[in-house]
Amino acid sequence: MNHEPERPGNKGGSSFLRRIQAEIDSLKEDGTYKILNYIDSPQEVHVKMEGRGDVLILSSNNYLGLCNENEIVEAGRAGLERFGAGTASVRFICGSFSVHRQLEEKIASFLGVDSALTYVSCWNANTGLMATFLGEEDVLISDEMNHASIIDGCRLAKTRRRVYSHSDMKSLEQVLRESREARSRFIISDGVFSMEGDVARLPDLIELARKYDAVLALDDSHGTGVLGATGRGTPEHFGLHGEVDVFTSSLGMALGGAAGGFTAGPAPICDYLAQRSRPQLFSNALPPTVACSSLAAIEFLERHPERVGRLRENTVYFREQLIASGFRPVPGITPIVPIILGETAKAIRMSQMLLDQGIFVTGFGYPVVPKGQARIRCQLSAAHSREDLDQALEAFQKVGRQLKVI
Ligand SMILES: Cc1ncc(COP(=O)(O)O)c(C=O)c1O
Repeated sequence: MNHEPERPGNKGGSSFLRRIQAEIDSLKEDGTYKILNYIDSPQEVHVKMEGRGDVLILSSNNYLGLCNENEIVEAGRAGLERFGAGTASVRFICGSFSVHRQLEEKIASFLGVDSALTYVSCWNANTGLMATFLGEEDVLISDEMNHASIIDGCRLAKTRRRVYSHSDMKSLEQVLRESREARSRFIISDGVFSMEGDVARLPDLIELARKYDAVLALDDSHGTGVLGATGRGTPEHFGLHGEVDVFTSSLGMALGGAAGGFTAGPAPICDYLAQRSRPQLFSNALPPTVACSSLAAIEFLERHPERVGRLRENTVYFREQLIASGFRPVPGITPIVPIILGETAKAIRMSQMLLDQGIFVTGFGYPVVPKGQARIRCQLSAAHSREDLDQALEAFQKVGRQLKVI
């Protein structure tokens, strides 16, 4: 017997679908249509890409090379056997697994804060944060270059919102001066800005937050596991460990790369988020496999801080060699190394030409980055060997010459 549901056919919305198809066609005509590449192997430095074979990845957030680290994968497997696939509901309705508490305690002790609360993504952590705490009497102050998840988190908050110029402390102080009457002020910034790769001016942010009695929240997704001698992130980089009021960060990057995110900070913050933040109250918990592998990833990092050092060496080498080849990457110290090309179509073309050379590095254009600032964004990993980096640099030189970028 055939159990296939009957397909209703295209009865309604056909003009809507025609409009969307026209949008897609124009993306294709402009050369800005994104092609999804499928990988048939674990996320490592070399992957097996469908239709391409062996490809070297230079655009992953797998900063420490932990995505396919044996003990981290095994921890996920053990979690699957112990807890099954998931909670099948929201935490307060049907319970959390003990590993959620273990992971949250580990995150808090790793970052040197009182408590942490996990979400299925850092996107959710960010969208759950500001809307929960801020009302019309408050002011939310955000860096103009903050990640899209912070921007959406700000949009969801029914509060007064102000944006300051990127890392411009005069602009931030101006907003703080103008908002003295607010009940609470909440400053939010990326720790490491994901498209530029620059580091937030944390000492100045902390000073201004203290001076104006504002809360400072840092999304350290690209700092966690990356910056500081032991990978504790942007505060450790500046010797300001313990000075940030609230963190959000991703578990889907340096810390195992599966998915997940968290908010961390003083106990009342996480306590109240568990009571009130909508992604907690209306969405499932982090899958236990991911909770187990993320916990193993942090434990691994605690035992192997040398991975962070290796990432730093790779970053310095790659940046120096790019510059020696005639490229002008955006200056910086982080493993995010953007090369600005201008037009979106050019960035996408360069990434396709690099892929033809076996190097997977993504081109970004508007609206991910401002118009006219399309770029190739390279990301280094501790798992890249010197040979890997040389292979990538050779391809960059070849393609860079062809496109007259160098
Ligand atoms: C700074 C920043 N915050 C948050 C996120 C979202 O992270 P997740 O994938 O855990 O939702 C990203 C993703 O790229 C990011 O770059």
